[in-house]
Amino acid sequence: MSCKRPPHRSSAPAKIILLGEHAVVYGQPAIAAPVPSLRAYASAQPSDNALNARSIELNQRASLHRPAHAAAARPLRQLLQLAAGYFGLSDARGDLVIQSDIPVGGGMGSSAAVSAAAMRALAALYGRQIPEADLNQLVFEMEKLHHGTPSGIDNSVVVYERPIYFEHGKDLAPLTVKNACHILIADTGHAAKTSAAVARVRQSFTENQAATAAIFARIGKLVRSARPALEGGQQRQLGALMNENQRLLRQLGISSPALDTLVEASMAAGALGAKLSGGGMGGNIIALLERESTCQSVSQALTGAGAARIVHCVIDR
Ligand code: PMV
Repeated sequence: MSCKRPPHRSSAPAKIILLGEHAVVYGQPAIAAPVPSLRAYASAQPSDNALNARSIELNQRASLHRPAHAAAARPLRQLLQLAAGYFGLSDARGDLVIQSDIPVGGGMGSSAAVSAAAMRALAALYGRQIPEADLNQLVFEMEKLHHGTPSGIDNSVVVYERPIYFEHGKDLAPLTVKNACHILIADTGHAAKTSAAVARVRQSFTENQAATAAIFARIGKLVRSARPALEGGQQRQLGALMNENQRLLRQLGISSPALDTLVEASMAAGALGAKLSGGGMGGNIIALLERESTCQSVSQALTGAGAARIVHCVIDR
């Protein structure tokens, strides 16, 4: 009788960028927070077969011992190669299944969460520990494959699962939030590739360096003043800074009519501030609520304006 062991299951959260996306790629600070209710899951089981993976949402398969024919499945195979290399396994075996509730192309860090969950499940399968700093580095390597020049913010917030103040080359600063922030995350329903948004900003920077660098500097300045506002519970100020950030992101050309519509609808319904979050050009907006009791009225306004999905997220530590 064969006795099948239960699979090793792991997960990692989605994330939102409260302020500072894109400019963070050019060395400015940014603030991000995890979304614990929206997660990527991975389960790993022992098997006699070469290590292989299946992504349910993306309908992709990859095996460690076979090159992926479809270009889209290459990152999945590279994930297996990275794991086998890290664990020092020349003949890694096992079955990995990935399932994620995080919208792909939604600016919510889905690729980082999938990589983190998968690495944790494989560590459990092989009976190894991955220190968080190593996991952060491994997920960062995967982010490079997905996005080319990631800032490192997505892997950091997803791995440590804490609100963070992130600045390239500086120690990660976990944030302690004085008053809980209630945020609605509303999806335009239009997926957008982060790499395309990053490339668009790169083109603006190349073509018009002084003006684009000035926008980055203004974003950096507002992120620096948002940190004490968040830590000190000054939510009106935080909302105003989010609105200013959205104006600057529009100037960078990475908002979209659907994003603008959701931003305007939430503001008209009484949100303190609203902006796109993540790569932009589609994906999600975030709206800061004045208090939890306005959740329903702002949600209704967002649904009326075409939001495909709304998630309530509380930042409270
Ligand atoms: O779209 P996401 O969830 O991958 O977030 C991207 C954030 C950017 O600042 C646009 C890129 C980066 O690497 O920081």
